[in-house]
Amino acid sequence: MSGEAVSLVTGVAGFIGSHLAERLLREGHRILGVDAFTDYYPRDVKMANLGHLLDEPGFRFVELDVAQAELGALVAEADFIFHQAGQPGVRASWGREFDVYLESNVQATQRLLEAVKDSSRLRRLVFASSSSVYGQSPDLPLREDSLPQPFSPYGVTKLAAEHLCALYQANHGVPTVSLRYFTVYGPRQRPDMGFHRFILAALQDRPILVYGDGEQTRDFTYVADAVEANWLALGPGAVGQVFNIGGGSRSSVNQVLATLEEILGHAIRREQRPPQPGDVRHTWADTARAREVLGFSPRVPLREGLTRQVEWLRSRGSGG
Ligand code: UGA
Repeated sequence: MSGEAVSLVTGVAGFIGSHLAERLLREGHRILGVDAFTDYYPRDVKMANLGHLLDEPGFRFVELDVAQAELGALVAEADFIFHQAGQPGVRASWGREFDVYLESNVQATQRLLEAVKDSSRLRRLVFASSSSVYGQSPDLPLREDSLPQPFSPYGVTKLAAEHLCALYQANHGVPTVSLRYFTVYGPRQRPDMGFHRFILAALQDRPILVYGDGEQTRDFTYVADAVEANWLALGPGAVGQVFNIGGGSRSSVNQVLATLEEILGHAIRREQRPPQPGDVRHTWADTARAREVLGFSPRVPLREGLTRQVEWLRSRGSGG
């Protein structure tokens, strides 16, 4: 990989985008990082994610919204694009909020694909998709060729964007790859996500809210493993495909809380809430395709990753 390669990372101030930019810098890429600072969570949290990236000579930051801005000049510089920007969150995608999901996940992706479709420079566009495209599938573990039947409006927008990537690849030769992330966690995890809320509440000795009976499972994925998958997606054989990126740490929410109690050395108070619309009961990634084509294998087990997230939240103080 050329040391002069330029990677455009959208959503660079977000959880996964910021880790990815750091990794790409270490690999010798120059980074063009963009972020719109949407109000899904506070700007100062995203500024903290960017942290020292802003001081790196190989890193350039542009504040813009992929769904609105003129993209031509930006994408003309890119050898690789990692499209991490979007409106996240499964449970928040109902009602009027759906407009935002459509614009940020579907229209933004279509605009990016339009902007690159005649690029002779672009070597890969990696799209951040989601396990939420599968919905309540009875066939576990989930394989990429299972019929996707999203269970949340959010999942519909991620699936639509994935299809856009595939059809721009088939019609125009845009070298797209979609990665279906399975519930990513670790330092800088978004404040609305389960682990972040659980750890913060436990550190502040507040009760945590458990949606449903806590026996729902997720194939939790440590953020460095998700980042590694992006790097591997630049390899041969990936173009035009979708890949499950799962951490191999499938656990129930109750198991996660038990592990967290062991790490913290004290009990965690819980309050049960009804199951949330849009939440699927189980996810479990079959990662055979990612292993065979990309050489992907997750490295960080749940206890280790959870410990690192606890340390991160402790180190930034448990005030928010
Ligand atoms: C996560 C991300 O938020 C999505 O953006 C991503 O696309 C999705 O993973 C995915 O893998 O496709 P989710 O699995 O809901 O969605 O992740 P968490 O917010 O960490 O929730 C994990 C589990 O904890 C869920 O079963 C949820 O119901 C539960 N939970 C979460 C609680 O019981 N209480 C809470 O306060 C928060």
